[in-house]
Amino acid sequence: CAPVEEAKMADGDSIPVCLDDVEAIALKKMSKNAYDHYRSGADDQQTLGDNRAAFKRYRLRPMFLRQDVSTRDLATTIQGVPVDFPVGIAPTAVQRMAHPDGEVATARAAASVRSCMIFSTYATSRMEAVAADTPDGLRWFQLYVFKNQKQTEDLIRRAEQSGYRALVLTIDCYHSGTKRADIRNKFTLPKHLRTENLSDDGKPYDGVCGLGFAPLLWSDVKKLKSFTKLPVVVKGVLTGEDAVRAVESGVDGIMVSNHGGRQLDGVPASIDVLSEVVQAVQGRCEVYLDGGVRSGTDVLKALALGARAVFIGRPALYGLAYNGEAGVKLVLQMLRDELSLAMALAGCANIGDIQRSLVVHESRYLQ
Ligand code: FNR
Repeated sequence: CAPVEEAKMADGDSIPVCLDDVEAIALKKMSKNAYDHYRSGADDQQTLGDNRAAFKRYRLRPMFLRQDVSTRDLATTIQGVPVDFPVGIAPTAVQRMAHPDGEVATARAAASVRSCMIFSTYATSRMEAVAADTPDGLRWFQLYVFKNQKQTEDLIRRAEQSGYRALVLTIDCYHSGTKRADIRNKFTLPKHLRTENLSDDGKPYDGVCGLGFAPLLWSDVKKLKSFTKLPVVVKGVLTGEDAVRAVESGVDGIMVSNHGGRQLDGVPASIDVLSEVVQAVQGRCEVYLDGGVRSGTDVLKALALGARAVFIGRPALYGLAYNGEAGVKLVLQMLRDELSLAMALAGCANIGDIQRSLVVHESRYLQ
């Protein structure tokens, strides 16, 4: 399969100064089984590679001297709830494989910098324990819908009762995409770990999800909306058409996402789809993005193209492996500080100053 360049850190340089450095250290700390599982994309990994490469194809158009940018305010709201900066943590399965504290550490890190953590259905910690540990943290619950209706309903009620503030319904994972590295490694979850929020169906997590999932239709999204009072965000939208269907189904938010390149290989990079979705939505709900976000300028570009906030998947896992809660916090702080600096250099004092005209596709300069 097409190689995606492995993280490398300059020789002798042990202090991470960017997200790629954190990944390079994490690579050394994790087993091959774990690192390959986290890092892999589906099939030829075209979409995985493109998620990052595509960000580089957008260029920034700074506007100078319009205002004083000596201090920046990065605060915003998502689903009406304040956050200190528009970067959250996407849901990723089995975080205790990266660090013994797993999801507890991730939730603590997000809460400590007033960000948002999305907790996966396939977490290796109980959702109630994480909630009790970070009562003031902003947490959303990522939902997979199981054929076993009771299992799904229980998950939703438990999330509501333990203070998760939105449901994130993942729609792109009817069955897991093929990760060749997992097959080669004969991936298994280490024996001491379990997917703690699911009633034991006898099948241990092996990275292949979906066998027990219900076939979902947009009418089910409407049903979900009437089943819960929580805001519903659909995750995995990649076309304007689906964005319109999502809005018509009553969703409160749309996450433009290709599951970090782990599902249908060959779909476009998330950042390339963002404008199409934003135009289709026409302000009727909030639009978020994940996939390939690795720097403050990536965040700035996504915001300029219309994202309300962005989310990171693998970088949080690498932060966990690097140094638990402190490692995840470092990753979030890096993105926050890089965004703040990028805003200053682009002439933006607050999030509202980040306009569509700030970004242009490189093809404009290549004609
Ligand atoms: C994921 N992702 C994911 N998404 C989801 O809705 N539920 C899940 O349980 C998981 N699990 C998961 C595990 C691992 C190891 C990875 C890498 C990803 C997808 C995730 O939420 C997100 O869409 C991508 O990770 C974003 O891309 P980046 O930031 O990893 O490039």
